[in-house]
Amino acid sequence: MGEFVPARAHEYHARVLSNVRLSRRYFLLRLERPRDFIDPAAGQFVHVAVPTPDDRFFLRRPFSIHDCTRDAIELVIVEVGPGSQALRRAREGDTLHFYGPLGHAYPVLPEKRIVAIGGGVGLAPLYFYGFRAPGKLGEGYRLLYGARTREDLFLEHVALERTGVSLATDDGSYGFKGNVVQLAAAVIEEEPADVLFSCGPTVMMKAVQKLADRLAIPHYASLENRMGCALGACRACVVPTKLDGGSPYRTVCHDGPVFDASVLQWDELPVP
Ligand SMILES: Cc1cc2nc3c(=O)[nH]c(=O)nc-3n(C[C@H](O)[C@H](O)[C@H](O)COP(=O)(O)OP(=O)(O)OC[C@H]3O[C@@H](n4cnc5c(N)ncnc54)[C@H](O)[C@@H]3O)c2cc1C
Ligand code: FES
Repeated sequence: MGEFVPARAHEYHARVLSNVRLSRRYFLLRLERPRDFIDPAAGQFVHVAVPTPDDRFFLRRPFSIHDCTRDAIELVIVEVGPGSQALRRAREGDTLHFYGPLGHAYPVLPEKRIVAIGGGVGLAPLYFYGFRAPGKLGEGYRLLYGARTREDLFLEHVALERTGVSLATDDGSYGFKGNVVQLAAAVIEEEPADVLFSCGPTVMMKAVQKLADRLAIPHYASLENRMGCALGACRACVVPTKLDGGSPYRTVCHDGPVFDASVLQWDELPVP
């Protein structure tokens, strides 16, 4: 996995540049990039303090970096609860506090044929990896992304209608009709893959691991567990693995969020 140097993460405050609704539940939050924010690698995340007049949101919320340009950091956020709803209400000119960039990224594998499989907000790190991050791959990269309906593909906002990207919708309103792992199996039958990447609902990533087992190829998955400190200290985010070394548990914030998926105990992971 991409090297993570905790000392390169810092506390920042950043101005909200814009906060745009992408679909009914999703929005794109653009923050002004602090001058000394290092170039993040795809799969890394920021830990964002939820703005509140009281201590209601004691815990920060982790979000993957969807894009990072010279001037801006972008996050794609889905509203699931009060924290993400409060962030949706952030307005241009507001200030948000965050810590980052955090976590181990996807490995950089320029010689490999990578098939990346994403669902929901799992789009963020996979899109960043293939098309935006430093050392982006271009041709060696195939992104398969699935959503419930066309609306959740946010085609008006994210450039997904491009070579190398195939889209699936559960209801068939755009692209392949079915789930994205079914699409992946069909695509790989035509064009073999060397490595799979995934990010999305646990049930989807678990199915990707089954596909990787069947094809006998590596799979790197980015987990989105709930977090406390995001510093490797509180152990709120641990997941069971097949690794030893004292305990089989590893932290998603510090040892992940990207893992070699073959070491994870998939049957024991929380299914949100
Ligand atoms: C490394 C990492 C990267 C992430 N990247 C993104 C991203 O790019 N965009 C995005 O929208 N979200 C992302 N998440 C998930 C995001 O952090 C949670 O959705 C958010 O913290 C929920 O806060 P809330 O207050 O809105 O909801 P809460 O009130 O905390 O929870 C509402 C509901 O969502 C469930 N939930 C809460 N947190 C999570 C979680 N981490 N995973 C699954 N279910 C959860 C709860 O069980 C509950 O049912 C990421 C998480 C991690 C660990
Ligand atoms: S969130 Fe505290 S150890 Fe990961």
